[in-house]
Amino acid sequence: MKSSSTTKLSPEKEIGAMTVAGIMSGTSADGIDIALVRIALLRNSPIHFPRMELLSHVAVPYPAGVRKRILQMMDADNASVAEMSQLHWRLGQLYADAVKLALKQYPVRLDLIGCHGQTIYHQGVARQFLGAPVACTWQMGEASVIAAELGVPVVSDFRPADLALGGQGAPLVPLLDYVAFHHPTRNRVLQNLGGIANLTVIPAGASQQEIFAFDTGPANMVIDALITECFGRKYDAQGMTAKRGRVLESAVELYLRGRFFQTHPPKSAGREQFGREFSGRFLADCRKQSKRPEDAVATATALTARSIGRAWKDFVSPSLGNISTDYIVAGGGARNRTLMEGIRRELESSGKISIKTSDECGMPTAAKEAMAFALLAYQTWHRRPGNVPRATGATRAAILGRITHA
Ligand SMILES: Nc1ncnc2c1ncn2[C@@H]1O[C@H](COP(=O)(O)OP(=O)(O)O)[C@@H](O)[C@H]1O
Ligand SMILES: [Mg+2]
Repeated sequence: MKSSSTTKLSPEKEIGAMTVAGIMSGTSADGIDIALVRIALLRNSPIHFPRMELLSHVAVPYPAGVRKRILQMMDADNASVAEMSQLHWRLGQLYADAVKLALKQYPVRLDLIGCHGQTIYHQGVARQFLGAPVACTWQMGEASVIAAELGVPVVSDFRPADLALGGQGAPLVPLLDYVAFHHPTRNRVLQNLGGIANLTVIPAGASQQEIFAFDTGPANMVIDALITECFGRKYDAQGMTAKRGRVLESAVELYLRGRFFQTHPPKSAGREQFGREFSGRFLADCRKQSKRPEDAVATATALTARSIGRAWKDFVSPSLGNISTDYIVAGGGARNRTLMEGIRRELESSGKISIKTSDECGMPTAAKEAMAFALLAYQTWHRRPGNVPRATGATRAAILGRITHA
């Protein structure tokens, strides 16, 4: 089931071809994904539909000290302004280095870069601040450093334009999901398992305006936090620790009753909902029932799987009718076997659904989000919108981001 949108482009049919590097760092703060992508519009397509070809993907882990500082800053109640500024510039350097590494491995002339940056704070829903409701978002990584180092224009800060139109500024991957996976006769659900779990729903034959998307809750964020706290490791490789543990059912039930899981989409989440404070409470509640840390990890893994099952039942499947659905999973969590088994158990009982990884569909799981920001940069460069208003809640489609010229 290779996606036709990621197959080789033929030059005679395309216009506006560019080679674009997408730079992505997610809420896991595990590192930097670089996707080198060739993007073009199809000449005969009435809406000039973009087509993409993934040339290469490189994953560069953050140095341990950098990751630690990012996590501290995300959770800090009061971080120093000097340090924030320093980190913003240091990340710009690291992003530039990561693109250079990708180009060393796959030499190609770049035309454009799209850099998501590292989210340090995201508050998609307005809260009262200094006399007015304020929603805000902040991605770090100075684009001028990347543009200067690579000699290529950089599009960055994709989220604010959507937020300014009343959207949640997230998720922004739905455009890529639509371009790469829409299908005339099959429903497609694209589930990403990063720090946060988000999904895009593309009903069979849907237009771009008919798709919707939302965050279902944590994917790896709580699992990672418990593994680090209890075992001193970064993540639960292949889900082996969760596999050894016993799920504490009453804790899963208790947390599933939380407000985020009940809220109707559109909705987005981050460390503000499922960060250090949440994980601390979750671990304390698990410890009341079991002293075995692997039980807490198994319970956090079950919470992710169950919340995905719940989202499917409450918010997704009612709008899909009786047509077969391909449920396509991407992101680092696709490598967690215990989590994947849990998701299978949750979803497969509901009938006409087939679960695959995006690897199996011709798009490497780890490259997908970086490809999305290459596509969004391409859109912006051509003054085309990048958000899907039904996914973010924005009042209209918007051209996203800021352009820094080299
Ligand atoms: N081999 C693996 N086994 C289990 N989990 C993994 C594995 N590789 C990565 N992960 C999980 O995926 C996360 C990173 O996924 P990623 O898609 O990069 O998320 P984000 O977009 O939030 O950075 C890691 O923090 C870890 O929890
Ligand atoms: Mg990542």
